[in-house]
Amino acid sequence: MELIIVFGWLLSTTNGEMTPPIQPAYSGCVSNVKCKCARDNVNQLTVDCSKMNLTEIPRMPDDTVFLNLNDNEIAEIDKGTFSNLPNLLSLDLSNNYIRNIDRHGFQEQKKLRRLDLSHNYVSLTAGGFEPGVFRSLTNLCYLSIQNAQQRDTSSYPDETFSDMLALTTLKIDGKRNAIFGEGFAKLQTLYMLKLSSDNCNMHTVYNNTFAHLPSLTVLDISRCYIHVIEPGALIPLRQLQYLDISNNVALSLDGLRNASFGLINGPISVLKANKLYPDFHLSVQLNNEHLEFLDQTNIKELFLDENQIELIDSNSGNICPKSMVKLSIIDNKFIFGFYIFQAYTCKSLKIFHGGYQHTTHIPYTQTTELKHVPTPIEDCTLMYNIESCKHDINKTICIDKNDEHIRKFLSNSNISGDLRSTEHSNSIPSLKQYSKSMPSVIQSISLPAGNSNKQNINSTHVSEKTTDFSDKGISFNVPPMLEEFHFQFADLKYEIPKIKFINGSVKFINVSGNSFYKLTGPLVGLEKLETLDVSDNLCSNVSNQFFENLKNLRSLFLGDNLFGLILMKDSEGRIFGNLSKLRTLVLSNNKISSLPVQLFSGLYSLEYLDISRNDLQILNFNMDRMKITYLNINQNQLSSLAQNVRMILTKQAKFNNVTIDLRNNPFQCDCSSFEFMKWVYNEKSQIKFNGFETYTCNVDNNNQSFIALGDLVWGFDKRCANYTVAIWILSISMILFVAVLIAGMVYRYRWKRRYLYYMTKRWYKNYNELHENDRDNYQFDAFLSYADKNLRFVKFTLLPKMETEGLHLCIHHRDFLPGEEIAANIANAIHRSRKTVVLLDDDFLSSYWCMYELNMARMESVYSRYGENILIVLLKESVDRSKLPLEIIDLIHKNTYIELPEVIMDMDIADMCRRLRDTIRD
Ligand SMILES: *[C@@H]1O[C@H](CO)[C@@H](O)[C@H](O)[C@H]1NC(C)=O
Ligand SMILES: *[C@@H]1O[C@H](CO)[C@@H](O)[C@H](O)[C@H]1NC(C)=O
Ligand SMILES: *[C@@H]1O[C@H](CO)[C@@H](O)[C@H](O)[C@H]1NC(C)=O
Ligand SMILES: *[C@@H]1O[C@H](CO)[C@@H](O)[C@H](O)[C@H]1NC(C)=O
Ligand SMILES: *[C@@H]1O[C@H](CO)[C@@H](O)[C@H](O)[C@H]1NC(C)=O
Ligand SMILES: *[C@@H]1O[C@H](CO)[C@@H](O)[C@H](O)[C@H]1NC(C)=O
Ligand SMILES: *[C@@H]1O[C@H](CO)[C@@H](O)[C@H](O)[C@H]1NC(C)=O
Repeated sequence: MELIIVFGWLLSTTNGEMTPPIQPAYSGCVSNVKCKCARDNVNQLTVDCSKMNLTEIPRMPDDTVFLNLNDNEIAEIDKGTFSNLPNLLSLDLSNNYIRNIDRHGFQEQKKLRRLDLSHNYVSLTAGGFEPGVFRSLTNLCYLSIQNAQQRDTSSYPDETFSDMLALTTLKIDGKRNAIFGEGFAKLQTLYMLKLSSDNCNMHTVYNNTFAHLPSLTVLDISRCYIHVIEPGALIPLRQLQYLDISNNVALSLDGLRNASFGLINGPISVLKANKLYPDFHLSVQLNNEHLEFLDQTNIKELFLDENQIELIDSNSGNICPKSMVKLSIIDNKFIFGFYIFQAYTCKSLKIFHGGYQHTTHIPYTQTTELKHVPTPIEDCTLMYNIESCKHDINKTICIDKNDEHIRKFLSNSNISGDLRSTEHSNSIPSLKQYSKSMPSVIQSISLPAGNSNKQNINSTHVSEKTTDFSDKGISFNVPPMLEEFHFQFADLKYEIPKIKFINGSVKFINVSGNSFYKLTGPLVGLEKLETLDVSDNLCSNVSNQFFENLKNLRSLFLGDNLFGLILMKDSEGRIFGNLSKLRTLVLSNNKISSLPVQLFSGLYSLEYLDISRNDLQILNFNMDRMKITYLNINQNQLSSLAQNVRMILTKQAKFNNVTIDLRNNPFQCDCSSFEFMKWVYNEKSQIKFNGFETYTCNVDNNNQSFIALGDLVWGFDKRCANYTVAIWILSISMILFVAVLIAGMVYRYRWKRRYLYYMTKRWYKNYNELHENDRDNYQFDAFLSYADKNLRFVKFTLLPKMETEGLHLCIHHRDFLPGEEIAANIANAIHRSRKTVVLLDDDFLSSYWCMYELNMARMESVYSRYGENILIVLLKESVDRSKLPLEIIDLIHKNTYIELPEVIMDMDIADMCRRLRDTIRD
């Protein structure tokens, strides 16, 4: 069955905003008063006369449906005041000076669903609320008369209340020792009773205080100065599912025990017992007896926040009610004890809140609404349709939207459905049963709040030893159902060692705000973990293994630590290397001045990256494989964004909504960052730049806003055009210069290059043919280099003569291998010959290949023959010495040469050949 909740009408005292589909408000529907009027889409009239200094109620339009008279100076409700308003559904009279209500004041309001009379002066007695004053209100489902400005200790005027047969929610002041009398027994749909208020003072809850309210499902008696709850007090409430006894600082855990006795075998689901001791009370030990009766209920959620609890007695082995799903022990004084290792006995525990231990006292309300509490349930506008209250009275509860927790509870439970079910009320606990099991253990331990004497407490064995984790690590039996573990700001100061979690199915861990200064790990057995929050721990060290087993981690919060240095060293990206499912990573405020390029390269699924509030000057890590859609770089030292980052973001923006936060960076607007400016300008429509209007950049030492980025880009376009040209000219000159330089080098070493080329080639080809060192193993005695014109002379005169002298010569006409490159042939010939004989004349000088041979021979002598001269020049007399190239002059100067006369006699030849032979054989 579905539960329909009707929330406090939106014009309630606490929140007067009008949100739902109402047409624009106008004034003038009430004569002489500037009330705001509006009609909604079904033409229902709303009149808002709040804060008008009204002392009397003016005549309202007859068809008024919602009327707000909050915060005026109205003193009484007359007989005829509302007589023309039969259609009224909601009436807000809170914060007035009303002392008297005429017995017929609400006579015509048969349809009224909601009436707010809180913060007035009507006495909460049969005198103030005369019997019959509510007689017509048989459809009323919500009534508040809290904070009546009076102190009165008589009983509630139950006869007066007994007329409101449809009442589901009653907010009323808790009166000292007062009983809800028999008249209330008629209110069979009264689901919710709230006594908590600034004016609640109950002192004792007797075992007949609520005896006539058997339908109560939600009871709030917090902040009511209760000192005693009789053990039988809640026994009559066989439907009770939600109980709040918080903020009764005289009650103590003993009062919790008394209250929970009445819940045995009942359907209780949520019990809030926060702050049962005054501030600065001595430390408290939570005993098994305190929870003993809850163990016999089906309690799901237990809140024991702010109770000065220091220890849990773990002797009995079981430290929590068996059906408990959620436990909150926020803001106590817990110290490490062995009971932690008994946590596994909490078989159905899913959510654990244990943060804010050892805090100096923050006010109650601040600590209870916590960081990671799931988001509030549906918006109150949903409850606008007050008509639904009418259609199905049996399933309707009207409550205020500021009763956050109750609302949440109601939305999650099926209370309306099984409201009439009696399955739990079979066996009502008897008082005998109670006294049998009174707590026998002292419940308050006289220990100073500090840390001395801890060792004396036998049951917990708190000692330094247990906190001194050894290298071996520890294993920890996790409650098998535990999914959420909140332990933020709990004053823990440890290195996190290797921990083995046994049977863990934990998905969420928050240990932010502690002092886990070193994350050593690895954490084993947390394969299901999806969210880990270690922010704000002053942690500077994390090992490469720490996250290694957290393969399912989706969100990792590491902000406000000191990871800058250790991340800088992780050049291979090993710390985050295994987190391939991680979507959210927060590293804000970590003193990061640079990030290694590969740091995040294992994070294939990363979508949300926050590295704000660091000192990054360059952002150039590898983002190629991320799916980044949110990048926060607020408050860094960036002067622009690198091109690869820009490219990735542009690419992402094509398929996703990409958001970047670049606020508070000292961007530079000049020609070097022109591309960046242009990019921001162009992508502004594709990518959402958070806080764009606050971006500035430095232009010639002035800060310019990005709002005028278009103009800036345009200006720089021109300015940087010149700049670009200059850059181009400069680069081209540079290139030219280098080219000339290289060409010069190439030219200067042209022979060396060629020589080495052929030698290398040769060496590869037949390195085993000829042993390089074997000087005597030359194939030829000499290689004869000559111009083609001298072929006849060489072939018919010189060669035969030389060969009769026993010299084996190599000449290209005869000995070159056909098919081989000429150049290669030459290099080979020179290399295989002991000497090279050059027949130098004018033709030789003008022949390319001849000069080639000459130069190759020079190179051979330098690079293969250790400088030994292998060139023998036969210089024709006719050659004009002045025309000789420099290197040849040099050669001739350094080495002897043989001069050939213009006309050669046979005798000359013979002589020359002898000299040649001697030189070659030398
Ligand atoms: C109501 O009275 C206060 C104080 O006399 C005055 O400041 C305020 O403007 C008045 N409001 C209206 C709506 O007249
Ligand atoms: C509780 O109720 C019983 C009867 O139901 C009554 O006899 C007793 O006096 C009451 N008070 C206490 C303190 O038990
Ligand atoms: C709890 O019940 C016992 C037994 O009736 C009573 O003496 C004691 O005062 C109660 N304590 C509180 C705090 O209600
Ligand atoms: C509400 O419940 C009563 C008794 O259970 C029943 O007679 C009545 O018809 C119900 N009203 C609606 C509107 O369902
Ligand atoms: C409500 O009741 C229905 C049927 O009895 C059940 O399936 C559902 O889980 C219940 N919801 C809650 C929140 O308990
Ligand atoms: C501590 O426990 C031991 C046995 O475990 C017991 O003999 C001793 O009396 C206890 N001390 C105190 C102070 O309770
Ligand atoms: C982007 O945002 C718009 C508007 O908020 C939304 O309609 C659209 O679905 C989003 N696109 C993607 C891919 O999330």
